[in-house]
Amino acid sequence: MAIDMEAMLAKIQDRQWALADIDWEAPGAETIRPEFRPKLKAFMTDLCWIENIGARGFAALAKKAPDPTIAEIYRYFHAEEQRHANAELALMKRWGMLEEGEVPKPNVNIRLAIEWLDAYSDDMPLSVLGTVIPMLEVALDGALLKFLLDSVQDPVCHQVFEKINNDESRHIAVDFEVLEMIGNASARRLAIEFVGRLATPGLILGALMYVPLLNRIRNEMAGMGMDAERLYNAVKRFQQLGERGERTPRVPAYKLLRRHGGWVVNPRHPYQLLANSMVWLSDFYPKALLRPMPAWSKELTHNPAA
Ligand SMILES: [Fe+2]
Ligand SMILES: [Fe+2]
Repeated sequence: MAIDMEAMLAKIQDRQWALADIDWEAPGAETIRPEFRPKLKAFMTDLCWIENIGARGFAALAKKAPDPTIAEIYRYFHAEEQRHANAELALMKRWGMLEEGEVPKPNVNIRLAIEWLDAYSDDMPLSVLGTVIPMLEVALDGALLKFLLDSVQDPVCHQVFEKINNDESRHIAVDFEVLEMIGNASARRLAIEFVGRLATPGLILGALMYVPLLNRIRNEMAGMGMDAERLYNAVKRFQQLGERGERTPRVPAYKLLRRHGGWVVNPRHPYQLLANSMVWLSDFYPKALLRPMPAWSKELTHNPAA
């Protein structure tokens, strides 16, 4: 299943698009039911910030890429995730959900994720970043985006997500190909890298950030009526895509995340108690301790010229 990364890069370069390609004034905005708007705004806000987190993740990955072609691909993916965030912002603007100049506020778990990325992501090994990002992408692509498209009839929204989904399918193809490359390292090296990183403050804080972040989003989705089946399928896809590779299943970070994913989507697993306590606790996280948002998180714009 090896992909030719040079050909992939050429394809990515060929498929670039811009917000200006879309007619943001086309009819269809009125199809959003008023009672659905507050929930949709919260959903789009999360989505937009997850894209931004993905963008920062790719920026970190670009520095660890196994070769210069993949580094260049990651730089494109970084820009594409920012474009996705901007396009989602432009949809919110179209739906009249944003005041002039308003950037929707990230929830506390996203704020913490942003802080963590800013402080630690550049120190994370390829095997950790290269596993977490495909997990988020599969969940985003497989559950959240499909749910959105089933819930919203606006044709412009469908047009935008067709472009986003095409980008995402290339992200996922590259993500899993790189996981295969990671799995190529000797078992001993994989184990040393993994165990050596487990005890670092970066990874411990990362887990403390990741667990409530996923559960908050999961709870919000359930509150919007998304059935548990979709999330379950997303995790199953993470497993299937990983198992298509010969070597991915031996990457320790992959094994851990696959198991963890199973807990997240199982409403009856005792893990929910722990994770939901962490969601609850994070609401008490003192605002004064939150550092100012880093510059990269302020690059969001719905402006089509950007
Ligand atoms: Fe994206
Ligand atoms: Fe992506």
